[in-house]
Amino acid sequence: MTTGGAGCTATSQIHAGYEPQAPYRPVAVPIYQTAAYEFPDYASARRMFALKEPGFTYTRTGNPTVAVLEQRIAALDGGVAALATATGQAAVSIALLTLVRSGGHIVASSKLYGGTVDLLTDTFKDFGIEVSFADPADVGAWAAAVRPQTRAFLTESIGNPLATLQDLPAIAEVAHGAGVPLVVDNTLATPVLYRPLDHGADIVVYSATKFLGGHGTTLAGAVVDGGRFAFSAYPDKWPQLTRPKRRYGGEILWERHGHGAYLALARSKYLHDLGPSLAPASAAQILQGLETLDIRVARHAQNTQAVVRFLAGHPAVAAVHHPSVPGHPQAGLAVRDFPRGAGSVFSFDLAADPGQVGPFIDRLRLFKLVANVGDTRSLVAHPAAMTHCRLSREQRAAAGIAETTIRLSLGLEDAADLVADLAQALAGLTGDTCPAAAPPAAVVHAGAPAEAHTGAHTGAHTGAHTGTEA
Ligand SMILES: Cc1ncc(COP(=O)(O)O)c(C=O)c1O
Repeated sequence: MTTGGAGCTATSQIHAGYEPQAPYRPVAVPIYQTAAYEFPDYASARRMFALKEPGFTYTRTGNPTVAVLEQRIAALDGGVAALATATGQAAVSIALLTLVRSGGHIVASSKLYGGTVDLLTDTFKDFGIEVSFADPADVGAWAAAVRPQTRAFLTESIGNPLATLQDLPAIAEVAHGAGVPLVVDNTLATPVLYRPLDHGADIVVYSATKFLGGHGTTLAGAVVDGGRFAFSAYPDKWPQLTRPKRRYGGEILWERHGHGAYLALARSKYLHDLGPSLAPASAAQILQGLETLDIRVARHAQNTQAVVRFLAGHPAVAAVHHPSVPGHPQAGLAVRDFPRGAGSVFSFDLAADPGQVGPFIDRLRLFKLVANVGDTRSLVAHPAAMTHCRLSREQRAAAGIAETTIRLSLGLEDAADLVADLAQALAGLTGDTCPAAAPPAAVVHAGAPAEAHTGAHTGAHTGAHTGTEA
């Protein structure tokens, strides 16, 4: 049976990229826990090192378990190939470094995950790469930001944390008019809700740590190449792909790999040299999660409908930032482009003093205060103090993040329990004690005393952390 699979289908979630092999024919993808591979002979080793013969040489640049994950994600997104990485952060970094070198420039959405903003404004600045931020709702701002040195456009299909959408085909047109590819972080949408390559994007990146794995156990990332961007049409912009390279024996990557050249460079140079490779056991974890992706995403969407409806009608809530809310500026885009829902990670603003944010979060019992999204569990975060704490006040204002903005990532619990937990925590703001709205204790506490739970919220961290995760 051929199991490539076209489109994001339940069948390709389970089968794409893997065929059980003799002699044991294991039905689940085996974990090839090996650092390296024995070459059949010296001549093969020479050819493989010269990249003249395909094959696995060392797990930093390729592994059979990881390769199944790569093929599966590429199939789900309709890409020609994918590259797996140790984290989503590594995927974003490698996707961009393959395009932009020192002296280059990126046009990026002003509404991005805070860790990506850190990468762009701090680390890439150190590397001599400049970034201009443009409002994703203002296509003209993207055109105005283009410079001769621009080498990439970057946005998120659903922005973290405000669930911002944009007219992606219109932004893609501007990118292509400027001769540069559009890179889209599709972490919050997943290919179940949105396939950026179908809407004009050229390269897709993921934090697979989130919905693709879905269980909150394993870090991973991926870069998917649509294989359509014609780097050869602008040879002066892309010497790394269109000029002979000593590293590749004087060969030109575009001539050798054609539309696979971008990912060939990403793997053979950036993954090879920087080393953020995905471990085989982690790839197996993500593969296991992927098998149920569409079912989980549908349940996340159902819970989102219920919680958004509840929050939008609550007097202690000033605004709900989800495109399904009537009157939301991107409600029309949601209907046009996201028929299965515009994601389950979104934010709302408390109609309260910023000093009420901490007590509100500490009153939540079912929602966990966690710097992550896309878990089976419902999670809460305070972007201004956590994921986006390194942004300047101006950057946060441009991103639409207020001091009272609360981010939720809705899990797979019962919607009624999620609503009840939010209701009892919001009741503290309105002075309504409403004990009947509290979620069932057995569900909430699951053996952990309330004090211990609150203590975890208020800072019993001991491990090293940087405060902008997820
Ligand atoms: C949209 C988005 N992209 C990338 C990342 C980075 O992913 P990772 O934490 O797997 O490195 C995150 C993390 O939260 C994210 O939300």
